[in-house]
Amino acid sequence: EESEFVESLLKEMTLEEKVGQLNQFTSRWEMTGPTPDSENAQRLSELLKSGMVGSMLNVVGAEATRNAQKIVVENSRLGIPLIFGYDVIHGQKTIFPIPLAEAASWDPELARLSASIAAKEAAANGLHWTFAPMVDVGRDARWGRVMEGAGEDSYLGAKFAEARVKGFQGDSLNSVLTVAACAKHFAAYAFSESGRDYNAVDIGGESLHNVVLPPFKAAVDAGVATFMNSFNTIDGLPSTANPYLQRELLKGKWGFDGFVVSDWNSVGEMIAHGAAANLKECAEKAITAGCDMDMEGYAYVDYLTELVNNGEVDVKLINDAVLRILRVKYRLGLFEDPYKYCSEEREKNNIYTKEHLEASRRIARESIVLLKNEKKLLPISNKVKSIAVIGPLADDKDTPLGNWRARAENNSAVSLLEGIKKAVAGDVEVNYTKGCDLAIGGRKFSTYLKVNENDRSGFSEAVRFAAQSDVVVMAIGEDAFMSGEGRSVTDLKLKGLQQELFDQVYKVNKNIIIVLMNGRPLVMPEMVEKAPAMIEAWHLGSQAGNAIADILFGKYNPSGKLPISFPRNVGQVPIYYNHKNTGRPLAKYPEDNLWSNYMDSPNSPQFPFGYGLSFTSFEYADLMMDSREIAQDGKLKVKVVVTNTGAVKGKEVVQLYIRDEVATYARPVKELKGFQKIELEPGESKVVEFELTKKELGYFFPDGTYVVEPGNFKVFVGGNSVDVLEGDFSIV
Ligand code: IFM
Repeated sequence: EESEFVESLLKEMTLEEKVGQLNQFTSRWEMTGPTPDSENAQRLSELLKSGMVGSMLNVVGAEATRNAQKIVVENSRLGIPLIFGYDVIHGQKTIFPIPLAEAASWDPELARLSASIAAKEAAANGLHWTFAPMVDVGRDARWGRVMEGAGEDSYLGAKFAEARVKGFQGDSLNSVLTVAACAKHFAAYAFSESGRDYNAVDIGGESLHNVVLPPFKAAVDAGVATFMNSFNTIDGLPSTANPYLQRELLKGKWGFDGFVVSDWNSVGEMIAHGAAANLKECAEKAITAGCDMDMEGYAYVDYLTELVNNGEVDVKLINDAVLRILRVKYRLGLFEDPYKYCSEEREKNNIYTKEHLEASRRIARESIVLLKNEKKLLPISNKVKSIAVIGPLADDKDTPLGNWRARAENNSAVSLLEGIKKAVAGDVEVNYTKGCDLAIGGRKFSTYLKVNENDRSGFSEAVRFAAQSDVVVMAIGEDAFMSGEGRSVTDLKLKGLQQELFDQVYKVNKNIIIVLMNGRPLVMPEMVEKAPAMIEAWHLGSQAGNAIADILFGKYNPSGKLPISFPRNVGQVPIYYNHKNTGRPLAKYPEDNLWSNYMDSPNSPQFPFGYGLSFTSFEYADLMMDSREIAQDGKLKVKVVVTNTGAVKGKEVVQLYIRDEVATYARPVKELKGFQKIELEPGESKVVEFELTKKELGYFFPDGTYVVEPGNFKVFVGGNSVDVLEGDFSIV
């Protein structure tokens, strides 16, 4: 029925109407890219009326989407409905932890839940489509968009990609409670040279296939409706004009039947890349390579008809792109009723509900990572009678919302101070002072214009409060807009006076609990050394303060694990656990020899991938395999016994890694191939079982061929990527 419908509709369409479906334009009141000129604003309404627009982005709300839809449905000849897209990244109005934080939960089921709630709220706002999940594997903390992904690992990334797609799309795109998802940015956007956003990417086929592509493939397997290509070039070729990625692999080998949208004018940006002479050539190259929809580029709308009429573009390519777009619209039910998502009633009832906020708090709690806990400072004991709450982020109701906050009301999050006050309910004295402002350093966005980077006038009160309190809780890091798109940095240290504030406070009170809020790994060696307790609280969303307080006061035992390595210094970046060995691996006595060590820093990160503490302790024992030899298409069962050896109940993420010791193309020193989050009562033991099959044991050659090679393998199981039990087996 679907193919009959879309194919017969295609037959009725003129070439102009077909080209019309391939354009997406932004509404004129909110931009996520460079502001277009007013001439384009004028043109938009004419284009809408004549059916030359297939999609809009940034039109949000039941009323706004209905109004825009009406223009098209009532004025254009065929009345083909628009599909409305928006960046719903970690919530629509109820905001969840930024995706990097959520990945720290190592619980894809939670990502599915948050995506399903985000979809429900977005769909209630008249939206059909989110530009999420971002499934870029990010190894470079300088790149501001690491906050939007699931971290540095493609196995974990694939699990989260799958969960998020399923969450957004539910069981049926036709439901008014779900939206179409979009796997982005295809491909290798996170590998931009030197972490500078949009920069060129030079990546070999081995890394492309083994590291970058698996989460995209997982999104396809989960039924993702759309893809977005990426701004960057790969080996000089813009992704937008990459036929291998979009046609051969995605639509060919992977069998993807949805459509590919460009990133914002990524079609037109090929001119600046030096890969096309003018917009017409951009249009020709992009459509030929398999980019179906032009976001805000004006290349397709202005040139595709002419290119087809001149014989420079085959109309079959246009037909294919149109069919793909019509198919997604059909699946969304827009041909049955173009206004089905526009409901003021759902808008009123389905958004920012108590239930959604509760889910946000629960997910936020699970995303927190306990980085350090000496002297058992945490959870805060009930003997503590006074707490100094200090720091530029301590009473910030905006930062926890993070970047890409969709329709969240600014300043609507529960601040840390609010969370603490509510938790202690007047039984403990709480003295708050900011201490200093946040400062970005370097290029300023308008947000920072009022910030005085050198103002130390708040230090004295901070020191006074610290001196008179039992414990200090200090909230520092990055605000919401220091990470995200276009927020690349060359330095990962804390900005402004935050370190100095810590030093002053530390002089008078050593019982400091650092609460880090950030969208990327930061470098703070002095604090890691001195502060007895530290928690990674990312940008946790609407309920951040309550969730952090749940941890601080022991209502919940932290269980998050880092999905990305934290470097010791920016010079180590990119740093990631699954690196390959050099021919002169890390030496014991680096001063004696020319080994692959830094002269001024250890090779190891500050905190490794998979790391995170708990208020209890876990012991790993009895690593067992059901065989020491398996066939190339065989299966291996790996078991381990995990025991809660502490005094409180806790959750542990049991992680399994392998190493293929000798291969045609050298394999990483460790690769995550399984994980399970389990909960154990004090003293309780569980046998945790994993299965390794050819899906986990093989890898891709640089040309994309998948192989399982015979030879020796190591298997590692533990609570992070470093502290592991080890065993071995072979594939024969
Ligand atoms: O979805 C985004 C993309 O990630 C970056 N450029 C703009 C798009 C639409 O807002």
